[in-house]
Amino acid sequence: MRFTRREALASAGALAAAGIFPAAKVVAQDSHATVQPDSVANAEPICLADFEPLAKAKMSTTAWEYVTAGAGDELTVRWNKEAYQRIRLKPRVLVDVSKLDTRVTLFGQEHPFPILLAPTSAQTLTYPEGEIATARGASAAGAAMVLSSFSSTSVEDVATVAKTPLWFQLYAQTDHGFTRDLVQRAEAAGCRALCLTVDTPVTGARNRETRADVKLPPMPNLKGLKVAGPMRTGSLDIFNGVLDAALTWKDVEWLLSFAKTPLLLKGVLNPEDADRGVKAGVAGIMVSNHGGRNLDTVPATIEALPQVADKVAGRIPVFVDGGVRRGTDVLKALAFGASAVLIGRPYVYGLGAAGQAGVTKVLNILQRELQIAMVLTGRTTISGIDRSVIWT
Ligand SMILES: Cc1cc2nc3c(=O)[nH]c(=O)nc-3n(C[C@H](O)[C@H](O)[C@H](O)COP(=O)(O)O)c2cc1C
Repeated sequence: MRFTRREALASAGALAAAGIFPAAKVVAQDSHATVQPDSVANAEPICLADFEPLAKAKMSTTAWEYVTAGAGDELTVRWNKEAYQRIRLKPRVLVDVSKLDTRVTLFGQEHPFPILLAPTSAQTLTYPEGEIATARGASAAGAAMVLSSFSSTSVEDVATVAKTPLWFQLYAQTDHGFTRDLVQRAEAAGCRALCLTVDTPVTGARNRETRADVKLPPMPNLKGLKVAGPMRTGSLDIFNGVLDAALTWKDVEWLLSFAKTPLLLKGVLNPEDADRGVKAGVAGIMVSNHGGRNLDTVPATIEALPQVADKVAGRIPVFVDGGVRRGTDVLKALAFGASAVLIGRPYVYGLGAAGQAGVTKVLNILQRELQIAMVLTGRTTISGIDRSVIWT
């Protein structure tokens, strides 16, 4: 998708002058990206952080705690954001930035922006239509969505409404037959990639979630799976009936032996694991610390990204999530070697604040902020964003 500078700045100006949710439509740069602001209450979020109080006011306390919580003292949750804030940019001036190209091609498919929705479980806790509203909201903004294995809507139902590429996040099960069926169900439903989560043999010590006594809604993707008991966080038994603590590289090879769609590893921080993944034949690496929800005090993902990207050395695409809240964060992630970023909590807050329209709005704001960051750093294409844009 190409934008003229005039279009980019006109939309940014419209945001500033008229507010985010004016009575008239704010029309972004293509037909996929039309925002219907009137379905959102009169509040006017103008950046991603603005959605949090709106969401908190509408969500149940339990849902809010579930989404917001991290592990332990939530240091990694904080570091994910702070690490972006510490990185300074080094712009070039007097560059013709009158035409922008924000497109990126991932696994043969073009995406208008290098911004995807990370998998987040149990979205009906946040908003009654849950993943259906998210898929519609993502489609309206032209963004791909990664659907969680632990979604509260089945992959088939979400695929029916998704107009943009849908990827599937896989929590492998100890029942290999079930795992194989789940992969094949996701592929049959039309999912274009599989993201195997490798950082969650058990869930983290999520104190806040435990205090809030979160009970997850039914998970239709796991229908038919024989599980020892209901999934509860805070159990004294750290192992969980729906997570495979015995998952190893052998299982990655096994999945690769039959998966028809690209298989990515989600939750890699160590460059050695990334290298091993490339050698095993995976199609992509997602640098993630699960939004700080699993192992507290691991570094911010933007700190881990450069090492992983250096090790992978362009052999396969590298992605990153965790703490992305600004267009400048997206630009920084791309500069350090990511092909695209994913956002988690921000769109869930958008969902909680305003359902489908909130998800679209979150994406539109981030997309516009990325355009502005590109213009103001003198980078007109995604491939033109490299480490020279970082102030060292
Ligand atoms: C409420 C919630 C549920 C999540 N559920 C999953 C999940 O089912 N599978 C998974 O791989 N990651 C899950 N994650 C992690 C996200 O995919 C992503 O790594 C993280 O949210 C990125 O950090 P951010 O929230 O700061 O953007 C979840 C995150 C949140 C906040």
